[in-house]
Parts: sequence; C-alpha cells; structure tokens
Amino acid sequence: MNLTVNGVEARLVSPPLASLLHVLREELGVTSPKAGCQQGGCGACTVLVDGEPRRSCLVPLATIEGARVTTVEGLGRPDDLAPVQAAFHEGYAAQCGFCTSGMLIAAHAYVERGGTDERGAILEALGGHICRCTGYAKIVAAVSAAARGDVATQAVEASYEPVPGEPEVLVKGSPA
Ligand code: FES
Ligand code: FES
Repeated sequence: MNLTVNGVEARLVSPPLASLLHVLREELGVTSPKAGCQQGGCGACTVLVDGEPRRSCLVPLATIEGARVTTVEGLGRPDDLAPVQAAFHEGYAAQCGFCTSGMLIAAHAYVERGGTDERGAILEALGGHICRCTGYAKIVAAVSAAARGDVATQAVEASYEPVPGEPEVLVKGSPA
C-alpha cells in the first residue's frame, strides 16, 4: 500500500484493515493525530484525505490506496504557519492540546473552502470535535480570525532547542 503523507510518498507494510490513525502514528511516527475515542466520536484523529477532513480512526488503509494525507505537520512550517495555526497560536486557542490537531484540520478545511467568520457556520464545521479542556470560546475566536484573514502568519519563535545527541522520546501507543 502507498500513501503520500505531507508530500512524502510512503510505502506501507501495515495490514489493509489497519486504521489510517494506526498507520500514521505507529508505522510512520506522525503523532499529531491523537488516539482519543477511536470510535469516530471525538475528532482528535482528524486528518485531510485528498483534501477532505476524515476521522482517521475509522479509515481502513485499504480504502485510501494512493491518497494524499495531510496532518498538522504538513499544514505549515514553524517559519511559515498556515493561517489557522497562526490564529490558534496568537489567540491562545490550545490548552492541553489533545483536541488541537483535529480542530486545526477541520478549521483549515473550513477556511480553505472560503468559510466565513459567522459563529454558527464555524460551530457546524467543528461539530463533533470534543475539547475536554472546554476551550471552545478561544477556538471559535481563532477560527473566526483566520476566516477574516485577521492573523499574521509569521514564524513561531522556537522555545525549545533540543540538546545535540538527545534521544527522541516516542512511546508507541501513547496518546502524546
Ligand atoms: S479517535 Fe477518531 S474520532 Fe475519536
Ligand atoms: S485543549 Fe485540551 S482537549 Fe482541547
């Protein structure tokens, strides 16, 4: 099976019925999609598949052969953020961050489609995305700012510099 993930072609060895969420996190080490309910009910695992927001926990690999998959890692770069990423950053729209990747993907798709800053439309676009920190007010405000173009997509200052030689900490199966 093959996918293009964030612009990079990947040849995969996971079984055909493995979920896209499993493939991204466990085979490719792409950890922004979070393993929440794993039943389609929370939105934490949402990614773009050929430009459409999909709950990756419900997508069997076999159904998306050759698709383009985009996660938060592929939306922008630290020195060139996507508008929704910059808006979340500027508007303090993340608390623990567990829901944030899914929210960003849904919000990005909404803004790319020409979504407006109308509150009801934003709530509909984010429908089914659960924030356990209940930070909805700032999330909606950030999406609204991105939809208006009222955001600077400048670089985020790196606040952490890894020490050379420091081992990467990646715990398989962890939600982080
Ligand atoms: S983990 Fe996929 S919707 Fe909750
Ligand atoms: S920021 Fe914690 S779950 Fe949404």
